Amino acid sequence: MSVHVSFDGEPERGVIDFGVGQPSADLLPVWLVRAASERFFAAAQPLELNYGEKQGDARFRAALAEFLTRAGGHEARAESLFLSAGISQALDFVCQRFTRPGDTVFTEDPTYFLAFQIFRDHGLNIVGIPQDGHGMDLDRFEQELARSPPRLVYTIPSFNNPTGQTLSHARRERLVALSREHGFIIAADEVYQLLHYAEPPPPALGTWVEHGNVLSLGSFSKILAPGMRLGWIQANADLIRNLLASGVIISGGNFNHFCSHIVRQMLEDGSLARLLAELRLKYASRADAMDQALHQHLGGIATWQRPQGGYFFWLNLPAHINAADLQVAAREAHTGFQAGSRCSTAGGMHNCLRLCFAFYTVPEIHEGIARLGQALNAAAR
Ligand SMILES: Cc1ncc(COP(=O)(O)O)c(C=O)c1O
Repeated sequence: MSVHVSFDGEPERGVIDFGVGQPSADLLPVWLVRAASERFFAAAQPLELNYGEKQGDARFRAALAEFLTRAGGHEARAESLFLSAGISQALDFVCQRFTRPGDTVFTEDPTYFLAFQIFRDHGLNIVGIPQDGHGMDLDRFEQELARSPPRLVYTIPSFNNPTGQTLSHARRERLVALSREHGFIIAADEVYQLLHYAEPPPPALGTWVEHGNVLSLGSFSKILAPGMRLGWIQANADLIRNLLASGVIISGGNFNHFCSHIVRQMLEDGSLARLLAELRLKYASRADAMDQALHQHLGGIATWQRPQGGYFFWLNLPAHINAADLQVAAREAHTGFQAGSRCSTAGGMHNCLRLCFAFYTVPEIHEGIARLGQALNAAAR
């Protein structure tokens, strides 16, 4: 018997809402988590249900380091990894450990809109840096640096949410060098680093942790399941020492110890690596479908850069079309998206919108984009 499982942001029945930024049910591998749990419990030691190590279970970190290194472009050592409860929690923790209210954080503009509230929770001033097709524009970055030096730089270097853009290798090096020269900390959100559908992106910023003030934030949310609430921070010994000195870590140990035992099984037996290979193929076919459907139904009106990884298409509409208004027409046509203004640091980008292809199958993507085309054509008239 199938039971309805509700979740925040769940679309109404019959609505194909490309605003949802999560994997679809068929991509959530219950069978793998079940097999891994069975293997863990078959040999579980009582002490594995105790607090464990502050930085994260040593066997988990060793297995994760090997997985990341084998995955390519993501070399890691167990000593440089710190277990988190996913990137959102890690970002909040990083703000708590390294910033004070009134400090400035630089982000790409547009960026992951749910990060804004985390920065506001810590009283940070958000300064947006534009992207120019190759990620953050570092000339503009340096101009802002002279005006209002940041304490923190939040970047999504590979397959940015929402633009899909990737920071070039040369810019990664320059950004890390700037963090060393100017003393700011980079919080690199590398959630989509391993989800590439053609060429891999340049190496993760995590591979530069010894060359600057880099905290590389990783997560199992998009390569296994968001509900696991498990991730990691990769950093040099000095920055990890700071994380380990936190009261909550000293009191309770690492943030998701039990879950790390289950995920370790999947890292060790290669099932997570196989799942990742399958996910890349499935997401690639969904990205292809969205690209085709957009050409068919919105080709004359919208422009976009086809993403080579990650979850999103970022659409530019003619300047006179307001995406927030279009949302009303889209809802009537039983479809949806995120308005670009939500992702903009200054609430601009009114004629832009974000579409996620992860939550729907190929036929649903074709149907949803056809509906969006109808809504847009009606609005453009
Ligand atoms: C750029 C980005 N960062 C972080 C997250 C959330 O990560 P987590 O589930 O690990 O908190 C998402 C999820 O959509 C995301 O797109």
